[in-house]
Amino acid sequence: MNVLFVASEMEPFAKTGGLADVIGVLPKRLSDLGLDVRVVMPLYKEAERNLRRLGFKVQTIRNKEVMVPIDWISYKGKIKETKIDGITIYFLINEEFYDRDFIYGSPSGDFSDNDVRFGFLSLGALEIAKAMDFQPDIIHCNDWQTALVPISLKWKKHYNDEPFFKNTKVVYTIHNIAYQGLYQKELINKFGLPSYIFNMDGLEFYGKANLMKGGIISSDLVTTVSPRYAEEIKTPDYGYWLDGVLRSISNQGKLAGIMNGLDYDVWDPEKDNAICMKYSAENLDGKIMNKMKLRKHLGFKSKENKPLIGIVSRLADQKGIDLIVNFLDQILKLDVELVVLGTGDKNYENILTEDMNQYGDSFSAIIGYNDKKARAIYAGCDMFLMPSRFEPCGLGQLMALKYGTIPIVRGTGGLLDSIIDYNRNPERGNGFVFHEFNGEEMLKAIENAISVYNNPIDWTQLVRKAMAENFSWRKASEIYHNHYNRLLGH
Ligand code: ADP
Ligand code: GLC
Repeated sequence: MNVLFVASEMEPFAKTGGLADVIGVLPKRLSDLGLDVRVVMPLYKEAERNLRRLGFKVQTIRNKEVMVPIDWISYKGKIKETKIDGITIYFLINEEFYDRDFIYGSPSGDFSDNDVRFGFLSLGALEIAKAMDFQPDIIHCNDWQTALVPISLKWKKHYNDEPFFKNTKVVYTIHNIAYQGLYQKELINKFGLPSYIFNMDGLEFYGKANLMKGGIISSDLVTTVSPRYAEEIKTPDYGYWLDGVLRSISNQGKLAGIMNGLDYDVWDPEKDNAICMKYSAENLDGKIMNKMKLRKHLGFKSKENKPLIGIVSRLADQKGIDLIVNFLDQILKLDVELVVLGTGDKNYENILTEDMNQYGDSFSAIIGYNDKKARAIYAGCDMFLMPSRFEPCGLGQLMALKYGTIPIVRGTGGLLDSIIDYNRNPERGNGFVFHEFNGEEMLKAIENAISVYNNPIDWTQLVRKAMAENFSWRKASEIYHNHYNRLLGH
């Protein structure tokens, strides 16, 4: 079976969040099942840097440039290819679009030509498949950036007439319904789509063109990254005005929630070369060393053995960062230490940085994106806080579990599918869960965690249980494989 993934991020080439983690591993696990899996992504400046840094062998595909017409201009894309663990990655090259310092936008906002940049990726991916003579049985698209793949296959004459894709089915995975790719209605003309699709049953959305909506309605199967989130997005509270569309495709049996896994080849304290000392559930000495080193690095000097809480997160409303900044004083009064690593919303970055002046003995904010520091936090903290407003899946809590850092989470989406509250269920509990999105509930959950922490025997047992949890990709990749088979009538 030939499967073509199209995505805007992939580990270890370019990453802003969990999407990159997923694309970095799911294709490999599907390839383990015997599928021929290839990935198309843009050659960003960051990807080029990482290819060089990591010593990948990269081949330029000569004489096979692709041409993509957008708004009457023909854009040219070159192709580079590399291999990683049995899968082929095609990098789409266009300096004007991708040779920039950021993937989606600069600190002052999203790039204004993202519709064209990612439209070029989507159509470029179809052209690459043809150029490389890789006839896909399945094209697996991810988020709005790739929605023009199913939209074009369904409605663009040039493609729905194309015999090459006649038997191709499209799976479209929603990683986050909050980002939809909303543009002026001229987008329809720009991409040579028929004007009749700009209506309520098509891409139209409150007077604008909505790429996420288009991706949902034109794909053969829509998946999202946890079973709980698949239910949530059908409700007005979580559906970001697409709940009606999602209910409708769900009624047609075209919506599935599949929990992401974690790549234990790269997220494992027994193998992690980036942390100061490796450790395992049997021997937790290394975890203590990691905590000492991290506290030293953060300048925390208290001699008491306070619980150290970590956050590694995009600083966005989704992540409940407002609960952290508004309740920081109360959190720290619980006699804990807190470290936040993140970038994003400038407002949060500024407040967190200023808070360090007042609470520097027990609070540290590291503004930036840094994989090594993230790992130091997963390894060195006692608890990991994710008070998300919504969370399609969340990988942070899965990483924390593996590193024996007990998650304290708000019960939503994938957080609710992966974390069981220890107080309610001491037998199976692997973390602490609060349900209402408010500071009081969050503080209560932190207090519950602290009271178990103060009993070292129970705590160590909990840490070992967390480390033994298994969210590997094996099961999820088989579920995707079954869906592919079903779509193809196998
Ligand atoms: P989302 O994709 O919504 O941001 P996830 O929990 O699924 O949330 O994935 C976040 C991923 O990004 C994890 O791999 C996490 O370690 C990583 N990450 C987030 N912020 C940072 C940061 N500032 N530095 C390093 N890694 C980060
Ligand atoms: C999105 C979601 C996150 C999920 C990730 C990977 O970024 O916000 O919850 O884990 O995609 O699917």
